Amino acid sequence: MIVVRIPDDAAALACGADAVAEAFAAAGCSVERLSSWGMHWLEPLVEIDGTGWGPVTAADVPTILDGTSSKCIGPIAAHPFLARQQRLTFARAGRTRPLSLEDYVATGGWTALTRARSLPPEQIIAEVTGSGLRGRGGAGFPAGIKWQTVAGAAGARKFIVANADEGDSGTFADRMVLEGDPFALIEGMAIAAQAVGAGRGYIYVRSEYPHAIAKLNVTIALSAQIIAPFEIELRIGAGSYVCGEETALLNSIEGKRGEVRAKPPLPAIQGLFACPTVVNNVLTLAAVAHILQPGGAELYAGIGIGKSRGTMPTQLAGNIKHGGLFEAPFGVTLRELIYDIGGGTASGRPVKAVQVGGPLGAYIHPDQFDLPFDYEAFSAADALIGHGGIVVFDDRADMQKMARFAFDFCAAESCGKCTPCRIGSVRGGELLSRVNEPEARAALGDLLEALQFGSLCALGGFTPYPVRSAMTHWPEDFA
Ligand SMILES: Cc1cc2nc3c(=O)[nH]c(=O)nc-3n(C[C@H](O)[C@H](O)[C@H](O)COP(=O)(O)O)c2cc1C
Ligand code: SF4
Repeated sequence: MIVVRIPDDAAALACGADAVAEAFAAAGCSVERLSSWGMHWLEPLVEIDGTGWGPVTAADVPTILDGTSSKCIGPIAAHPFLARQQRLTFARAGRTRPLSLEDYVATGGWTALTRARSLPPEQIIAEVTGSGLRGRGGAGFPAGIKWQTVAGAAGARKFIVANADEGDSGTFADRMVLEGDPFALIEGMAIAAQAVGAGRGYIYVRSEYPHAIAKLNVTIALSAQIIAPFEIELRIGAGSYVCGEETALLNSIEGKRGEVRAKPPLPAIQGLFACPTVVNNVLTLAAVAHILQPGGAELYAGIGIGKSRGTMPTQLAGNIKHGGLFEAPFGVTLRELIYDIGGGTASGRPVKAVQVGGPLGAYIHPDQFDLPFDYEAFSAADALIGHGGIVVFDDRADMQKMARFAFDFCAAESCGKCTPCRIGSVRGGELLSRVNEPEARAALGDLLEALQFGSLCALGGFTPYPVRSAMTHWPEDFA
């Protein structure tokens, strides 16, 4: 019998993967549902014996089976989009059944946890530190140092919190882990617990990810005995961007209003229920499940650029021809990502700008596209890597409207705790509509400075980046 493999990831489902699966089953094929390869422009991407077809509709099924379909892309693993990647965090993408413990074990699952359990906690932390792993949620803080702080902090209880709020525009890598390789997140959390002495963990996932939530419920139940005595509970967010900020997230888990807490104390010292807490992004924790494998830390530390070690799963989105998940060592340039790999815009028009790092990331001009993916290089260019989302705009984008959007977004999502953000976001929008008056422009400059340096958290603190970059690189849109 012909075995047909079809992704069950939300991106594939949104493109009609279920109807395609039904059509193959009706034609007498055996259908397996796997994770997505992350080549979203080809979804639903169908695989038979390693060969791929995409994007497939139910009407394509007869021609695929009789060998006359024009949608064949050849051997999937050799596709240029995949062949240029070095997949570590996404090594299983497209290859395993997400909820199959058997598939997880067959691809090296739990070996890192088994090894971690044989090591003293300080050795686990030393390996994570040595790998150079930095947090993938946005700030790029070294994971090993955070773990060390929690391990050394006094507390009757300690917690591991996986931040799966994934609110940045153009991002979907966390979702792909949650839906495609959820055991890797559980394994990473259990290793973190072993390292810092935590007994309980929480996964805070956004309510907009119903498929991920359903799969996590199954995964948590299936892995309960494997990770015991460590326990994991799922918490669902209610759709607030600021609840991705770690202290607002902790408040939300505690059942309080999702308002940012002043720091210090750091969550590593006084986090969830005032106990020492590791808060890490999904990608950070999933990477740990590879780093703790034999030789994993050395491999990770050996690739990348400068202080940005290992691989970065970038997400190509917006107006781009080949949108999807591209995991490669740090150092790849925006030019390579947008043109060589992404194929330019989907509209076929010239690229005008890209926004990297979510709604608070800078707009980057094509003149800056030689910028390598590297935390320090981005920071020197007043830009942000954030969670690795890259949103492409063609020459029809109005950058004044984009700058206006940054203020509107900040006003809508502000938790209201501090004045620069709560009031400044609204005043900023007003000043922007009078930007050609010298007084208003000067006041806008002052306001951006107050937002950047006077805000309690990065929501207000980073709003100036998209505004300033739009005004600097596209002055004609503000004339
Ligand atoms: C407004 C705001 C929203 C954030 N949203 C997220 C998010 O959705 N996911 C995430 O992992 N980190 C988010 N962060 C960063 C977290 O506060 C925190 O730095 C991160 O979860 C730590 O994990 P990491 O060290 O593994 O990156 C956000 C920060 C801010 C200021
Ligand atoms: S900057 Fe905005 S979101 Fe952050 S604490 Fe202040 S009001 Fe809240």
